[in-house]
Amino acid sequence: MAEPSRTEQRKAEHVNIILQENVSAEYNYWNDVRLVHDALPEIDLDGIDLRVKFLGKQLEAPLIISSMTGGFGMGKQINENLARAAADVGVAMGVGSQRAALEKPDLFPTYAVVKDYDVPLVLANLGAPQLVAQEGKRAYGVADAKRAIEMIDADALIIHLNFLQEVVQPEGDRKAKGCLAAIRTLASRFPVMAKETGAGISHEAATRLKEAGVKAIDVGGLGGTSFSAVEHYRARKEASSLKERLGATFWNWGIPTPASILLSDVGLPLVATGGIRSGLDAAKGIALGATMAGMAKPMLEAAKVSADAVVTELRAVIEELKAAMFLTGSSSIEDLQDRPVIVSPPTASWLEAHQA
Ligand SMILES: Cc1cc2nc3c(=O)[nH]c(=O)nc-3n(C[C@H](O)[C@H](O)[C@H](O)COP(=O)(O)O)c2cc1C
Repeated sequence: MAEPSRTEQRKAEHVNIILQENVSAEYNYWNDVRLVHDALPEIDLDGIDLRVKFLGKQLEAPLIISSMTGGFGMGKQINENLARAAADVGVAMGVGSQRAALEKPDLFPTYAVVKDYDVPLVLANLGAPQLVAQEGKRAYGVADAKRAIEMIDADALIIHLNFLQEVVQPEGDRKAKGCLAAIRTLASRFPVMAKETGAGISHEAATRLKEAGVKAIDVGGLGGTSFSAVEHYRARKEASSLKERLGATFWNWGIPTPASILLSDVGLPLVATGGIRSGLDAAKGIALGATMAGMAKPMLEAAKVSADAVVTELRAVIEELKAAMFLTGSSSIEDLQDRPVIVSPPTASWLEAHQA
């Protein structure tokens, strides 16, 4: 195989940094959210139905293994472990940005490996910054999106919004004008889900995305993996002191995931991603109004070990989610979405500011 491309190197560095350094947001916003205990649930634990339909596909549980990787050697093994587990448990899975393979077709198999498994909902992934022309780089259009979808036989296409990462990244893209129009074009051709990558979606952004025709929104809020932190460490390694400083300054930038779910209530199905570390966190996200919960870093850690480790982690999350449903008297995901939720500051302050 030829020399690794810049994109390929970056993919490997992201995985290594996320596994080795502390790149989490400082505050756990899920602690601001409480479900109300029901001492008389009047349902049976074994009768709880976790199944959900999302983007037209039936899933055994409302979980997505969030978009992470592909595009470098180890990415193939990670995607294979994730896909095997997603198929086994019956949950959704996204691959990481497919730009690396669009630039260098040798890398196709690092993503296409997911086609070997019967994953009930597979999500392709491209970045919004790649949809407009950047310094020395052409804009990706309908044909590129089609290649990304076909590469993995995807059921839908995620367009990720990652301008926090771009602004900190040493080689980051600087242009954002025209992204919404490009998303509108793709959404008229393919089922598109818009997804933030750790800084959350505001009410205004959710409204504009809905108008652009996206079918769902993954709010990708603050509280979990911080890409500002990840790029801080990459900049440090590259002795880029200004970017290192920007990464530290914006480490905790964004809209907390629980607040973003409430703010993004514009009538589209939502995914709660960003700091989900247990089935209880997932239950809180769903009770706030999401249909699904997404997890990245915990799945990456398990996938580095084996597909079985991913299955074990997913099953543990499902047991916790089921326990939370039992204790709130929720026999289905729709029931859980109707349960009362107590939200305290600082998360509650975001909602007060929005309502003011
Ligand atoms: C190693 C790694 C690579 C990622 N790459 C992508 C990506 O290519 N596209 C994307 O939409 N999100 C990407 N993400 C963001 C995740 O999908 C997720 O939104 C974010 O990590 C927050 O979830 P967490 O707190 O559970 O890690 C990546 C995350 C990790 C950990």
